Amino acid sequence: MAVIDFGGQYAHLIATKIRRRGVRAEIRQPEDPVEAFDGYRGIIISGSPSLASRGEDSEYTKAIYDLDVPILGFCFGHQEIAQHYGGQVEHRGREWGKADLHVAQGHPLFRGLESVEHVWMSHHDSVISVGPEFEEIGHSVTGDTTEHRYAAIGSDSLLRYGFQFHPEVDDTEHGDEMIANFVFEICGCEASWSMDRFLDEQVERVRAQVGDRSVFLLASGGVDSTVAAVLLGKAIGPERLHLLHVDNGLMRLDESAAVLTMFRELGLDRNLHFVDASEAFLAALDGIVTPEEKRERIGNTFVEVFQEEANRLGIAHHLLGQGTIYPDTIETGGTKRADTIKTHHNRVPIIEQMIAAGQVVEPLTDLYKVEVRELGDRLGIEPTALSRHPFPGPGLGVRLLCSDGVPDEGTESMARHAEEIASGYGLQSSVLPLRSVGVKADLRAYEHPVLLSGDVAWETLIHAVSTITSQVPGINRCVWNLGTVHPERASVLEAYVTRERLHVLRRADAIVMQALHEFDLYDDIWQCPTVLVPLSLTEEPGETVVLRPVRSQRAMTATPVELPLRLVTVLRTEILELDGVSGLTLDVTSKPPGTIEWE
Ligand code: XMP
Repeated sequence: MAVIDFGGQYAHLIATKIRRRGVRAEIRQPEDPVEAFDGYRGIIISGSPSLASRGEDSEYTKAIYDLDVPILGFCFGHQEIAQHYGGQVEHRGREWGKADLHVAQGHPLFRGLESVEHVWMSHHDSVISVGPEFEEIGHSVTGDTTEHRYAAIGSDSLLRYGFQFHPEVDDTEHGDEMIANFVFEICGCEASWSMDRFLDEQVERVRAQVGDRSVFLLASGGVDSTVAAVLLGKAIGPERLHLLHVDNGLMRLDESAAVLTMFRELGLDRNLHFVDASEAFLAALDGIVTPEEKRERIGNTFVEVFQEEANRLGIAHHLLGQGTIYPDTIETGGTKRADTIKTHHNRVPIIEQMIAAGQVVEPLTDLYKVEVRELGDRLGIEPTALSRHPFPGPGLGVRLLCSDGVPDEGTESMARHAEEIASGYGLQSSVLPLRSVGVKADLRAYEHPVLLSGDVAWETLIHAVSTITSQVPGINRCVWNLGTVHPERASVLEAYVTRERLHVLRRADAIVMQALHEFDLYDDIWQCPTVLVPLSLTEEPGETVVLRPVRSQRAMTATPVELPLRLVTVLRTEILELDGVSGLTLDVTSKPPGTIEWE
């Protein structure tokens, strides 16, 4: 199968999902000559940050439409197919997150599925009519019960199909089956790829790249760098593998000591190095407020520390190893067209230069976290090490929001519009005077969160959030007030990255992690960032803590998690007792339009 990557956040995921079904799938570029598509049994066109309604990115190899193989498009791809065959696309009808797809019964693409399927949307443009040979094979209904036509279209005579939703993301409940129906039933492919085969291929690839040199791996202790370390150890032997664990001052409570113990237990302590570089990181972040600048400075400091240590240890000529996984690359805008959602620490410009110079070994760049865990299991790593929640390289640095104290207010109409919608659901609302990072229709969205207060059912709350974030421009996130009253006003406080604030955040995070274990929820949740936001919601002095529990499988999409009331009570008591904290909220936003982390 060929997957044409138009730069959507999920293009690579499509290929992964096909490979997981045992079928070879390769990424192709939109401008590849039509001959590059020879030999494939079918083509899938990905989503894109571009707008089909405005003719953006329309200069691709249209000759693919003359090929005698089935073609399926998702989101932008769906709209392009509709337009190519005489349909119309307009810039309206946007949807983010969950939607119900009402499918045309009996169509082979939906074989074995229900008449209403839960699917995942992230789009600004919509197909509003189709050409003569096409028909609607599904329509969608989103949070506020609005019906959207042409959510799935097809022409069985031309073998051209389109889905407005993203079947490749895990939140489309039976997306795998839909893709499999296309690959097997419509394109007639057969199965043959496996994780064992991938492991053997990677070991060979690493050996070929490294030759008789050695590798110096930045080992945070997270799942990715741990699996990368064990794989590299297997490929080149522990003698030629140096591990460096850096305490960047942005780690969790007692994290570094635990990480060093883990590597010893894994037998990777032969060349295990440790450096406390917290001073350097805090100095680099001093007075910095914007998320991308913080990320870049953290990434650069990692490289400086790494180079300094490598020189000190006399191994500066070694290759740099990293446990980079696919989402790190795509979110950094690392494929030709993808928008930068956030620059991951292992993709800052200096590292990009080292990659171009062939000085970096990264055996996991094709994988997502679920695959990394599966690979780790094949490599014999303990389940407890593999089930650890993902923790971002920049650590608590991206969970400690900063501000120069000047409120970044939304517009009055934004506040009014949000209030109108919220009150319809029995909720009070305030647009918060700062911003957080999110992702909408494959584009970075640095927008305002809305604070919601009110005692409503979870489903009602989620509907309200979906309606607010899709209908009010400039809003990408909602948080639910776990305090007692809705604040008259939320004021922003001047706050930067300091040891004191990190200490508060670290304690709040430790409370959350311990409570998740005690309530037996840790393994049920993908990740639960605790974020410290310089906002005062009450008369009491102190900042606001945001809890961000999400379910996900690959972090490309995520859904917020409802916490049991008893757990909320414990967290409220313990977190609000911390010096420096006076507000507590729960992030109730899906990804998109929010991202898992706030920065
Ligand atoms: P977002 O916030 O983009 O995060 O939804 C997706 C996943 O990536 C993690 N994350 C990072 N991991 N370096 C990393 O190694 C980074 O710079 C980084 N930023 C986000 C995040 O925790 C989530 O699991």
